[in-house]
Amino acid sequence: MQTVVSGIRPTGDLHLGNYFGALRNFVKMQNDYNCYFFVADYHSLTTHPHPDHLQVNVRKILSQYIAAGLDPEKCTLYIQSDIPETAEFYMLMNMNAYIGELERVVVFKEKARQNPDNINAGLLTYAVLMACDILIQKADYVPVGKDQEQHLEMTCKYARRFNNIYGVEYFKEPKAFSFGKDLIKVPGLDGSGKMGKSDNNGIYLIDSDKDIRKKVMKAVTDSGPTEPNSEKPQVIQNLFTFMNLVSEKSTIEHFENAWNDCSIRYGDMKKQLAEDIIKTVAPIRERIQEIEKDTDYLDKVAKMGAEKAHIRATQTVQEVRQIFGFRPVHY
Ligand code: TYM
Repeated sequence: MQTVVSGIRPTGDLHLGNYFGALRNFVKMQNDYNCYFFVADYHSLTTHPHPDHLQVNVRKILSQYIAAGLDPEKCTLYIQSDIPETAEFYMLMNMNAYIGELERVVVFKEKARQNPDNINAGLLTYAVLMACDILIQKADYVPVGKDQEQHLEMTCKYARRFNNIYGVEYFKEPKAFSFGKDLIKVPGLDGSGKMGKSDNNGIYLIDSDKDIRKKVMKAVTDSGPTEPNSEKPQVIQNLFTFMNLVSEKSTIEHFENAWNDCSIRYGDMKKQLAEDIIKTVAPIRERIQEIEKDTDYLDKVAKMGAEKAHIRATQTVQEVRQIFGFRPVHY
């Protein structure tokens, strides 16, 4: 079975963009691939989280992913820092990563521009750590959204470079996993094309029914169609795109017809949309609340994931140490 690796940053609650965009595909993948999904808590250190918050955020994200469908029995679900071999591997791989290429990484440049007072070495070498997460498990595939494409290219570059420098055929280059036609873009409720956590335009899996109703009722619309069968402006198309994700076919048809004959009332459409979103979100929210309380269960999941993730990680780092010329050690 082929191996898939993906990391999830513990930097905030999951919203419907994450859920429909990537997570629902991860849930499908866990049936067909040997999946390693981890919470990237080492990566989160680049923004200096308070130590008291780190574990809280890791648990939060773990509960949300499990509640939304990742099954720790089917995939290897673990916490990045539970595999400290990754840190040794990262130190070794940093020796073959060059400042010039790291400074050219688009995400690095963007983050450095946003936080000029905190351009730390961890941020600069973010791509190296990510390459190590992927290579340590010998991934065949990595699911990549647009902003992670360059990081995956660098992973391939570091794999090739390692093989070239040491004259080995050790690492193979992982491929981007494409969701193809299953790739869904969730629009923002502020009329923008994409729901994102930094844009404050999202519906979160932990939102109450009341919050959801309030947010949907505030969604941007226009003054309504004036000619039958006219093209929908972006903000209205967004509402329909949303309906396509959560509503029954007959409901969508009803509002499509109302749009086409100019009888549409956005208030009614939003009310219906809010109820249909609640049908998706409420059961997940209830599971999140249950899982979050059950710290024994979360500890068990993390321990089980770490044990499984350790197997390949230890083997890779042992072999890499030897290729570098070090003696074997016992972890
Ligand atoms: P992040 O938090 O942006 O996204 C988590 C994972 O989901 C993938 N993804 C998608 N894949 C396909 N289609 C989409 N629309 C889509 N949106 C998001 C992301 O590419 C990512 O795999 N730096 C990473 C975290 C990370 C990581 C890793 C990811 C650390 N180490 C190793 C993959 C492998 C990040 O910020 O992902």
